[in-house]
Amino acid sequence: MRHLLNPLDLTVDEITDILDLASDIEKNPDKYKEACKGKKIATLFYEPSTRTRLSFETAMLNLGGNVIGFSDASCSSASKGESVADTIRLVSCYADICAMRHPKEGAPFVASLHSSIPVINAGDGGHQHPTQTLTDMMTIRSLKGRLENLTIGLCGDLKFGRTVHSLIHALVRYTGIKFILISPPELRLPDYMKEEVLLENNIPFEEVSSLDEAIGKLDILYMTRVQKERFFNEQDYIRLKDCYILDNAKMAMARPDMLVLHPLPRVNEIATEVDKDPRAVYFKQVQYGVYVRMALILTLLEITV
Ligand code: CP
Repeated sequence: MRHLLNPLDLTVDEITDILDLASDIEKNPDKYKEACKGKKIATLFYEPSTRTRLSFETAMLNLGGNVIGFSDASCSSASKGESVADTIRLVSCYADICAMRHPKEGAPFVASLHSSIPVINAGDGGHQHPTQTLTDMMTIRSLKGRLENLTIGLCGDLKFGRTVHSLIHALVRYTGIKFILISPPELRLPDYMKEEVLLENNIPFEEVSSLDEAIGKLDILYMTRVQKERFFNEQDYIRLKDCYILDNAKMAMARPDMLVLHPLPRVNEIATEVDKDPRAVYFKQVQYGVYVRMALILTLLEITV
């Protein structure tokens, strides 16, 4: 039995297989519409979500399976003090696979230790979000044609942004990747990520504060939200929340083939005027998220079609 807690739980070859399967699902959805007949996914969301939860549920429904779960810990027995360990023990009696989001880093890992079904980390605190990473990789591979030889700008909250941490972990295994880390000093990428992931893998990177300075060099601009829920001090959040706003004036400085990704939700960091720019692919990214989650469910349940 396999879990997916971190992008590194999958080898590069396994990621290629999942992305290939997701592309086949995109082209031939009917082929897969009964692949999970009789199977159930449990979506255990202790923290708010729109895309991740609904895309997991859509993925299982598209595969002919069913969905159980909760979208708010206050509606579950977690509110009575039930532990993650006990919750996953009983969910293992009800479902075949589960996706868990939790505000505490490591909660899905704890669940995996007590689970008899595959556990997928659907986002744990500021730590990891591996299925968003698979979504991002499918978006880049589908629209750019490659996962190698890319200069990727990561912009916004690089300190708490779990999507950024997961994406870096996954992409350092590809050749010719360079990162430009664009953030205010307070929201820089944590030292452990620079030392243990970027430097350890000899990945070139630079840290800048100015988006204007970096945007013209990028193949991919990965925008992120400054996350109110990760701040301890509201004044700091208010000071930093609008530190980057991508608008048409900034897009005019970018390469004609640069792509803008964003895991969403966005608040102010991308002006809605950018949505019409063909380089803005964050809503296509949402659709790719369903295909990769369908592919991941099939892979972890060892179902071949
Ligand atoms: N990208 C993402 O995780 O979105 P949600 O928080 O809506 O699931």
